[in-house]
Amino acid sequence: MPGGKALMERGPKPTILVTGGTGFLGSHLVTRLLAEGHRVVVPARSRHGLSADQRMARLLDWFGTPHQQRSLLEVVEANLEYPSLGIAPQQAADLRLKVDEIIHCASDTSFSSRKEEQVKRVNIQGLEHLLDLLSGSRCRRLYLISTAYVAGKRIGDCPEAFQETTAFHNVYEQSKFIAEQIAASRCAASGIRLTVIRPSIVYGDAQTGRTLAFNALYYPVRTIHYFSKLYHEDILEHGGDRARALGIHRAPDGTLHLPIRIDGGSGCGVNLIPVDYFLRAFLAIRDAPSADGVFHIVNPQNTSIAELVDFTRRFFHLTGLEVTTGEDVASLPRHGLELLFDRHIQAYSAYIRDARIFDRSRSDALLRQAGVTCPAFTYAVFTTCMRFAVDVDWGRLLWESSPAGP
Ligand SMILES: NC(=O)c1ccc[n+]([C@@H]2O[C@H](COP(=O)([O-])OP(=O)(O)OC[C@H]3O[C@@H](n4cnc5c(N)ncnc54)[C@H](OP(=O)(O)O)[C@@H]3O)[C@@H](O)[C@H]2O)c1
Repeated sequence: MPGGKALMERGPKPTILVTGGTGFLGSHLVTRLLAEGHRVVVPARSRHGLSADQRMARLLDWFGTPHQQRSLLEVVEANLEYPSLGIAPQQAADLRLKVDEIIHCASDTSFSSRKEEQVKRVNIQGLEHLLDLLSGSRCRRLYLISTAYVAGKRIGDCPEAFQETTAFHNVYEQSKFIAEQIAASRCAASGIRLTVIRPSIVYGDAQTGRTLAFNALYYPVRTIHYFSKLYHEDILEHGGDRARALGIHRAPDGTLHLPIRIDGGSGCGVNLIPVDYFLRAFLAIRDAPSADGVFHIVNPQNTSIAELVDFTRRFFHLTGLEVTTGEDVASLPRHGLELLFDRHIQAYSAYIRDARIFDRSRSDALLRQAGVTCPAFTYAVFTTCMRFAVDVDWGRLLWESSPAGP
């Protein structure tokens, strides 16, 4: 068989356990690893009346994963909130014998303080449960998908290293920070090599716009789209009184004047990376011979709020959206729609007016060698992504046959 000898010399590909395989980044990792010929084990939970198996099958359909690759996938019903992830002892013993690497990608990504207990249970105890489950196994490698935002309320340079941080914007950042500390000490104690991957904000595929998640970047844009639809409808179908009261009007060419002032803040915009870049960067880091420690996967160039507002205006044919400073706003109080918009995007404020600058010296050296570069977030990319988002009604039509999600 051509290439057979080379394959034998390299030995079989490692079996990789990927948590979070039903999620946005995890599903991209799973499908890519399957395509590379890895055996992949995904511990995942049943939800929305679908078993973990059914959820993964539907995701593989979405990715168009060929059938011969699907036989490399094993899905195990599991929940990070339970000791041993709720996996039966025999199955747990079997996993300990076969898993060579872990990519821990699962997380509760809620920023809400109401969900504090849940976020900690998944992000902190969940990691402990996973490491307990695989303790004494043949696994010698952990890739922890963390976040650049473990930097918390730090201003300015954020090192690409384990760091001391004491103040956070939300429980998510804090729990991811604690998870890194736990992973570092437990891996050091048990001789497991650890790579911590810290992406910034991930959006859809830069070429196709396809995405499975419509949070972060999409959220403020979706809010504006919602307002725009609401007032178009008010003007065209209900006489437009509500629109007029807020100074909203529609030009004959369909352009909507939507006077909303958006506070530009004093930060340096938002750090955005497309999911295809995340994937290429992760794989390049994984392929590097000595990629232990921390790696930021971030964009060297932030996108400013002014650019985002300009892209949104152009894409949805709007006028009236303006970027202002806090002082401009103080001179003329905010109207109801502006307050509603601010309230809606409040949870993302620290990310779109970011005061953090992420060091990239370690990741740059490695990614440059591998020829992996982050695409710029241009209007063309924005258009591709938002066209996809609008076509699937911000995720609602993603699973047309079963609207509950994967
Ligand atoms: N997306 C980003 O912009 C971004 C940026 C920086 C870092 N990250 C990090 O990247 C990782 C993946 O993020 P994502 O955007 O892909 O998030 P996501 O789409 O919300 O996926 C989260 C995954 O975690 C799983 N999970 C949550 N609670 C669980 C539990 N109790 N037991 C088992 N599985 C559980 C989810 O399973 P269900 O499907 O069952 O809910 C899902 O598969 C996370 O660690 C996140 O912190 C993401």
